[in-house]
Amino acid sequence: MIGAFLSNSLIGICGFTRMKRKKTNHIGEISQLYIKPEFSGKGIATGLMKSAIDEAFKIKGLEKIILAAVESNSAALKLYQKFNFVEYGRLENYFKVKGKYQTQVFLSFTKSVNEPH
Ligand SMILES: CC(C)(COP(=O)(O)OP(=O)(O)OC[C@H]1O[C@@H](n2cnc3c(N)ncnc32)[C@H](O)[C@@H]1OP(=O)(O)O)[C@@H](O)C(=O)NCCC(=O)NCCS
Repeated sequence: MIGAFLSNSLIGICGFTRMKRKKTNHIGEISQLYIKPEFSGKGIATGLMKSAIDEAFKIKGLEKIILAAVESNSAALKLYQKFNFVEYGRLENYFKVKGKYQTQVFLSFTKSVNEPH
């Protein structure tokens, strides 16, 4: 987990987890990206994503990063596209909140394909 701080106060977080199984441990997942609303639009998520990706690819054998966002979260999806994440699928009715369904969009970034960072 990476944190963004302002005067010792936590204002943003970004998690990363490497897959545990031997067959899939070349893949890791970015999750729990969250910026306190009062600090949004200031490039903090961009900074956290950059750090998370840079740190992830320092891990020996790490080749691919996956993440996901709900279809209606255009801010997050724009951010991920900015980092060259590519959609590899979407699953309708992934979330069901108070009877309302939402589609989840799945994206990936492959080091050898989208290299520069
Ligand atoms: C989505 C979120 C992480 C963006 O964080 P942020 O610090 O405001 O993002 P940044 O300032 O670094 O902006 C990065 C990019 O995100 C996109 N973006 C951010 N806010 C946006 C908005 N309100 N509308 C559209 N795009 C937006 C833009 O592409 C922006 O790049 P640009 O400024 O070059 O156009 C933040 O709003 C958040 O924590 N939201 C709630 C939790 C969440 O949705 N997490 C992601 C779960 S998948």
